[in-house]
Amino acid sequence: MKDYKRYTVTAALPYANGPIHIGHLAGVYVPADIYVRYLRLRKRDVIFICGSDEHGVPITLRAKKEGKTPQQIVDFYNELNKKAFEDFGISFDIYSRTSNKVHYETASEFFKTLYDKNEFLELENEQLFDETANQFLADRYITGTCPHCGYEKAYGDQCEKCGTSLSATDLINPVSVFSGTKPVLKSTKHWYLSLDKYSDFIQKWIIEGHKDDWRPNVVSQVKSWLDAGLRPRAVTRDLDWGVPVPIKGADGKVLYVWFDAPIGYISATKELTEDWEKYWKDKDTKLVHFIGKDNIVFHAIIFPIMLKAEGSYILPDNVPANSFLNLEDDKISTSRNWAVWLHEYLEDFTDKQDVLRFVLTVNAPEAKDNNFTWKDFQTRNNKELVADFGNFVNRALVLNNKYFEGVVQVPREYQTIDKNVLSEISIIRDKVAESIEQYKIREALYFAMDLARLGNKYFADTEPWVVAKTDLERVKTILYIGIQIVANLSVLMEAFLPFSTKKIRKMLNLSDEIFWDMIGHSDIVKSGEKLGKPELLFEQITDEQIQKQLDRLEKTKIENKNAENIIPKIKENITFDDFTKLDIRIGTVLSAEKLPKTTKLIKILLDSGLEKRTIVAGIAEHYKPEEIIGKKVVFLANLEPRKIKGIESQGMMLMAENPEGNLSFLITDKEIQNGSKIS
Ligand code: MF3
Ligand code: ZN
Repeated sequence: MKDYKRYTVTAALPYANGPIHIGHLAGVYVPADIYVRYLRLRKRDVIFICGSDEHGVPITLRAKKEGKTPQQIVDFYNELNKKAFEDFGISFDIYSRTSNKVHYETASEFFKTLYDKNEFLELENEQLFDETANQFLADRYITGTCPHCGYEKAYGDQCEKCGTSLSATDLINPVSVFSGTKPVLKSTKHWYLSLDKYSDFIQKWIIEGHKDDWRPNVVSQVKSWLDAGLRPRAVTRDLDWGVPVPIKGADGKVLYVWFDAPIGYISATKELTEDWEKYWKDKDTKLVHFIGKDNIVFHAIIFPIMLKAEGSYILPDNVPANSFLNLEDDKISTSRNWAVWLHEYLEDFTDKQDVLRFVLTVNAPEAKDNNFTWKDFQTRNNKELVADFGNFVNRALVLNNKYFEGVVQVPREYQTIDKNVLSEISIIRDKVAESIEQYKIREALYFAMDLARLGNKYFADTEPWVVAKTDLERVKTILYIGIQIVANLSVLMEAFLPFSTKKIRKMLNLSDEIFWDMIGHSDIVKSGEKLGKPELLFEQITDEQIQKQLDRLEKTKIENKNAENIIPKIKENITFDDFTKLDIRIGTVLSAEKLPKTTKLIKILLDSGLEKRTIVAGIAEHYKPEEIIGKKVVFLANLEPRKIKGIESQGMMLMAENPEGNLSFLITDKEIQNGSKIS
């Protein structure tokens, strides 16, 4: 394995249009933080880069919805998220943002370099345009009826009801979200990066070069993109929020958010240090991108091609991508409020950041999607953190207080059991290191917890509380070793549980100047040291606390259910004259038959009091023909006749439709004669 001089570690820049939830933490930020903290303990030269991704259509949409400017939206969420990361000990060296000046300069310059190197194709094509609002429409700005499921509010890129990805031109009755008018096609020019030119490069670099050290999910996604064939991809958009395209003839156009955002890693590094180039351009730097699986194509194909095309940058050495975390067996979703938000978690579980970090790491969705449940959160806390880890640390300190007033003793001669337990520490240390270096963070934590279990077992085997009755000299050695294990834990566990390990060091009077190679030593705490007061590291989480969280989720479920069945808004007012134009009457169904080769239509013969009329009604999914014969119905008598499937329909039956789309007839509470008027 190559020896690197330094590390550039990035964590995907979260969009600044919503708060951070546990899925983000588990997928990207906690594993990245553990990796970086580990590297720092090893005294490696590392920078940890993140920031807000502040462009893109969803941000402008959100601004529009809330009646704010995009800048106001990103200012708000940038602050909120920055703080949430700090609160959870995610130790970025910089948390920057893509709306700042350095970034605009860096991204523009990057684009210009590629432009000057002729890396772009200039293509004109037709795109949907809103003539009223005088602007081109990104897919998200168009809604219409989904051609697959009939959902009326599908977006131009996806139907959120059935999940199908769409292209805006597939929508039935498309309308612009700006003006509500029907968009037209209009020609526009854009710049395309010729990804296809780089297929061989990606093939050699990833499929041949990294098939063994990159995660299988990453390699297989790259492979399926290659198999489908890489195509030129537009890197500019007609939009007024983003980095302006820095060349002539590109007025009103900005860089595509996925072009500018990853360059944000470079801009942030520039902001962090003048010495930024060595972190991006020196072959002895290891570049690692921590991301979620929906970002794979951008970090493993598109951004590397941009870097390669630019020519002066290094490529990522690895792109560890996690799968998704579900919450109580359901997909985490911001719009459905199905999530545990970090700021809310801290309201209910003050100072329990490490508990969440622990549970999210134990359940990290590394190889496949995983599930977070509050019950499991409670069990892991109570069994593993309280009973295994916390209990061991507490025992060592409490016993040392009890027998030796908190003063660390000089050990006597070691017995075999002592030597064995001490030699085990460095074995564990090396296993943890190896796993972390391979981005197997969950496995690393599993090995690390072995040290707490080892400590517990050592006490269970040596029983200092029993030996104390007969041989206090022996107890000096046992507790000395116990305390050294605690000290070792405070270093080994630092990357995983930064808050609790700091507390331990405080109790042991150890400075925070710690480093990886301390682990395995049996004299981290010196004999004669008087230790601080033992404090509990973790506490039991009660059933009531868990029930509160489950109740909150249950409430969300009910709210979502209600929101799905929205009662339509009342239409604009009309005048009484408008109303009197309608001639609504009572009639009786004389006969009814289903129209062949249709699913919804029934042909009805109606006695209207004056004559017999034919009406074609779309009710076959709600009523069988024989069910309606003889029914008194309400119908609109003066509706212009129209042909439906070749039959002239002379009027329309009025029916009630509930939010789920079920139809039912209107009934009168007295027997009433056909032809009676309704007013
Ligand atoms: N904002 C994107 C997301 O949340 C990630 C951007 S990563 C970057 O999916 F590389 F583009 F910055
Ligand atoms: Zn659909």
